[in-house]
Amino acid sequence: MSAPHVLVTGASRGIGLAIAERLLHDGASVTLAARSSDSMSEFRARVGVSEARCRMVQIDLSRSQDFDDLVAAVEEPGQRLDGVVHAAGTQLRKPAIEVGEEELIRLLRIHLVVPYLLSTAVARSQIAGGRGGSHVFIASLGSSIAIPNASPYTAAKSGVMGVVRSLAVELAPHGIRANAVAPGYVRTDLTADLLSSSDQRERILGRTPLGRLGQPREVAAAVSFLLGGDSSFVTGEVLRVDGGWLSA
Ligand SMILES: NC(=O)c1ccc[n+]([C@@H]2O[C@H](COP(=O)([O-])OP(=O)(O)OC[C@H]3O[C@@H](n4cnc5c(N)ncnc54)[C@H](OP(=O)(O)O)[C@@H]3O)[C@@H](O)[C@H]2O)c1
Repeated sequence: MSAPHVLVTGASRGIGLAIAERLLHDGASVTLAARSSDSMSEFRARVGVSEARCRMVQIDLSRSQDFDDLVAAVEEPGQRLDGVVHAAGTQLRKPAIEVGEEELIRLLRIHLVVPYLLSTAVARSQIAGGRGGSHVFIASLGSSIAIPNASPYTAAKSGVMGVVRSLAVELAPHGIRANAVAPGYVRTDLTADLLSSSDQRERILGRTPLGRLGQPREVAAAVSFLLGGDSSFVTGEVLRVDGGWLSA
């Protein structure tokens, strides 16, 4: 059997990049998708894999896309997609009463609309080809509880769990699974501003039972599990990688 092929969005840095690195380590072929082609090229050079095993798509997911065309472009002959991981994202920190319509729509698009449309496009191809698959969404603490001053993000990440449950049920007859990983606080560009405040850092560490931040590779390990055969009877699930935050 050939190596699985997985499309990873948000793979130019942070959690998405760690996921791509882990999947390559696992033996998969990966297509990286993000806006920064330089970062993706540097990553490919650093890990030393061929262009055939690690391809790149430069794409701005904030703009309207034809996702069926995107999937067709990624799926060259012999390179059908077995999986997709939705790790592209951004944050907006301000009180809900100050959020404008465009800001709300921007966050909902990148975290909810794009994963929905991209996963359904991948699923159409997988169904047409009679192939199963595994789709992994990146949820958040905000999928379960309010994150202060991040209401568009919390709204989108809550919606992600609705998408995961719906796709898990609708796509199960086709052998396609849909799951989510919900990280707690992980140091990346997304959290850099927040974590630069010592008050915020102490609040977060004090609230995390394991008493530290998560690392991108710890999220990547959970994604690897949900993509692969060891989780073959798991669908519609969310795997928390939050240092115990939601149990406390
Ligand atoms: N860090 C945390 O503590 C944490 C916790 C829970 C959940 N998450 C989730 O984990 C995912 C990854 O976050 P991260 O912390 O790794 O953030 P990050 O370091 O800021 O990386 C975000 C990624 O998304 C890509 N991206 C952003 N806007 C894009 C656009 N318009 N089009 C295409 N790609 C775009 C970025 O690439 P380009 O800029 O090159 O386009 C980058 O690769 C997000 O869904 C986030 O909500 C993070």
